[in-house]
Amino acid sequence: ARVGILISGRGSNMKALIEASRAADCPYEVALVVSNNPDALGLEDAAAAGIATFAQSHRGLPREDFDALMDGALRAARVEWVALAGYMRLLSPGFIGGWRGRIVNIHPSLLPAYKGLDTHARALAAGERVHGCTVHIVTPELDDGPIVAQAEVPVLDGDTPATLADRVLIEEHRLYPEALSALILKADG
Ligand code: GRF
Repeated sequence: ARVGILISGRGSNMKALIEASRAADCPYEVALVVSNNPDALGLEDAAAAGIATFAQSHRGLPREDFDALMDGALRAARVEWVALAGYMRLLSPGFIGGWRGRIVNIHPSLLPAYKGLDTHARALAAGERVHGCTVHIVTPELDDGPIVAQAEVPVLDGDTPATLADRVLIEEHRLYPEALSALILKADG
């Protein structure tokens, strides 16, 4: 299956998805990387991996119009599944509706806990002993939608938001390609 990845920044999850796609038994290939931030670091990694990129700032455009531009680029690349990887904007209902349950996201918490930003700091402040990450289908509600897979990570004494984020990120990079592959195999056979 052809996957398009949406990023806004570093793109480490994008890289993990690309690396996993090189395996002979991987059911997807990355056809396009899209960014709403032309300065996203991940764009360089995508280009270095030989993957087509589409980058344009969303500034000054109504959300629906910007999303329609991305949609056009994804359709032109014959993308079948969209993976959000640190894409830091809400998607319009029109965009989401056009992909019929074929947009996935990775979120750094055990959803439904800690939707939104600063998940690691909030989990620490609440005294959680277990934290983690979630791959889910994207619906118009932020960080909502059916859960595809989760990975738990222990919170350790002395953790800061940064040390906890690093530990969760390792699991994100393992979980996301695995969950996306399983989803695609189940849906497309
Ligand atoms: C990850 O923690 C992801 O779960 C969250 O934003 C971060 C993006 O990191 N949505 P990267 O751009 O994939 O390195």
